[in-house]
This record gives sequence, structure tokens and C-alpha cells, in this order.
Amino acid sequence: MPATVNILAIESSCDETSASVCSDGRILSNFIATQDIHQKYGGVVPELASRAHMQHIVPVVDAALKDAGKSLSDLNAIAFTHAPGLIGALLVGSGFAKSLSLSLNIPLISVHHMQAHVLANLIADKRPEFPFLCLTVSGGHTQIVLCESPLRMKILGETIDDAAGEAFDKSAKLLGLPYPGGPLIDKYAAGGDPTRFIFPEPQIPGLDFSFSGVKTSILYFIQEETRKDPDFIQKNMADICASIQHRIITILLNKLKKASLETGIHHVCLSGGVSANSGLRKSFLEMGKIMHWQTYIPEFQYCTDNAAMIAITGYYKFLGGEFSDLSISASARAAW
Ligand code: KG4
Ligand code: ZN
Repeated sequence: MPATVNILAIESSCDETSASVCSDGRILSNFIATQDIHQKYGGVVPELASRAHMQHIVPVVDAALKDAGKSLSDLNAIAFTHAPGLIGALLVGSGFAKSLSLSLNIPLISVHHMQAHVLANLIADKRPEFPFLCLTVSGGHTQIVLCESPLRMKILGETIDDAAGEAFDKSAKLLGLPYPGGPLIDKYAAGGDPTRFIFPEPQIPGLDFSFSGVKTSILYFIQEETRKDPDFIQKNMADICASIQHRIITILLNKLKKASLETGIHHVCLSGGVSANSGLRKSFLEMGKIMHWQTYIPEFQYCTDNAAMIAITGYYKFLGGEFSDLSISASARAAW
């Protein structure tokens, strides 16, 4: 075991190229290059994402090393996201990480992106005790995870159709808002009445989620109302957004509450890009008070896709001796 464990981590699963350096589990740098090019297409275009990763990866890794005050020769391991995500995007990061580990002759650590979102909660000084629950909500995933130790996790529930971020983005699209619409719904909702329009809560058994029914009910509602008044959306934007946001939040938090009651676990975390939503954060903290939870939300830069969460997961894998060999391949859908 080296005196200090320095890990360089690379994340390239979707549309952010990110690199981070951590030293003994402390994040020294977290550099993220966002790909704005997708905005005009209303969603992430996989081919464009791969090309942008190719352009960004060397400068992003350089910047992360520089910010951390480290050089390649200081590194003890390379961690990278091997799954899940866009395959072309993952291949850029995995190819780069493998080459670097080979040329520096240091271990390679493959990291599952969704496990890393959960362990983003171990970056701050104030950390949850094990076992803890984590609600991970992003543009691609919605999961409740039971985390027993850094390397032992179990999915208790997940979405059977759209992810929470997709529910926000697709609802926003119905209102004519640009992609990604989640942050705009959040903004308009701040001035609206969340009880003005009622969208149905799906009755899904267990701890799984569904958002497609809500999306359809919003679509029919908008169609019906704009038939009666073509300016309906414009006149009622704040109340519509507040009502949509309220329904998505209640779907998420009711399941989280159920998970806590069923498991008896009181250390509860949020993670993923949707945890930036101000309504969700507020309601989560309020529910935490009522339920006597210890609540945790990572800093925003560690909620959206980032390499710091890959670095922290890589660190725990390093301590547990969980290394990969060069035959590891990127996978769009790898199971845990
Ligand atoms: O985790 P993330 O950055 O990327 C992945 O999907 O992995 O999450 C992006 C998602 C998008 O759907 C975006 O609309 C949503 O997070 N989002 C929000 C807010 N900020 C980001 N949704 C609602 N309110 C927000 N403030
Ligand atoms: Zn993610």
C-alpha cells in the first residue's frame, strides 16, 4: 500500500467529459467540460457526444491534474466509468483510461456510474452512516439504493419507464420550453401554486416508480386546455410548472418514505442531477425532519455527472483490492 493513494478518475458516460484527482479519498480537483452542442437538438446526440469527448478528454485530464497539483508520475491508479451510458461515449473514457494505466504501469479500476452517484455522498466531511438509503434521480435513472458499505449496494426500487429527469424534461417540452427543461420548470414553479392542477399519482407496487402515466395526463390536460384557450400555457405557466413539479416530487418522496419505513434506515441521501431541483430539496429536508432522518445532499458539482464521484468510488475499490484488467469492456447497460 503506498503512503498516499492518488487516483485519477475519468467520467464520460453521457454528455459531460470530466476528470478528477483524489488523494486518500479527499477530492483535490473535479474538472467538467459540458457539451452545449446538444441543446439545439432537444436531447443528447450520441455521435456528437463521442466526438466532443474525444476533443475534451486530454485538456480535461490535464486541467484536473494541474488543479490538484499532481503529475502523472504521482498517480497510483486510474479509475473510469465502464457502465452504464452511451456506448460510444463510454468507449472514449475507457480507451483513454486503459492506455494511461498501461503506459504508467498502474492499476485500472472500473466504476459503475450509478454506484458512484450513491457514493458521491461520501465526498463531504458530513457523511451518512452505513447502512443508508439513497434516492438517485437523474436524466437517465431513478433508483432507491440501500448502501450497506462502500462496495455493497442493493437496488430496492427503480423506474419502470421514464426517469425523473426525463419526466421534467418531457413535461417542459410539452410546454414549449427548451431542453433540458428541468431547471426551467423549477424556475417557473417558484412563483406558482402547486395545488392548482392535480395530476394523478401512479399506483405502482413496491418501491418502483413510473412517470409515463403522469406525462400522458399532462399531455391530455395541455391539449384540452389549449383547445379552449390557445394562450392557456402562457397565462398559467407558473401554476402548471408548480403542479407538475409537485407531482413528480410526491411520487419520489412517497417511495423514499416507504423504503425508510420498510428498512428502518434513517440515514437518507439524495443524488443525481434532479437533486438540484429546489422543490425536491426543500420537500426532502422537510420530510427528513418529520421522519427523524439524518439527511444528506452532495454539493451540486457532485450531484450532476462528474468524475469526483468516480474517484471516490475508485478509492474504496482500491482499498478493497477491486481492480480490473485490460480486458474490461465498456457496456451501455451493465448490471451491478
Ligand atoms: O445527473 P444529470 O446531470 O445527468 C444524467 O442524466 O446523468 O441529470 C440531468 C437531469 C436533466 O433531466 C435535467 O433536466 C435535470 O437533471 N435537472 C433538473 C434540475 N436541474 C437539472 N430537474 C429539475 N429541476 C432542476 N433544477
Ligand atoms: Zn449520472
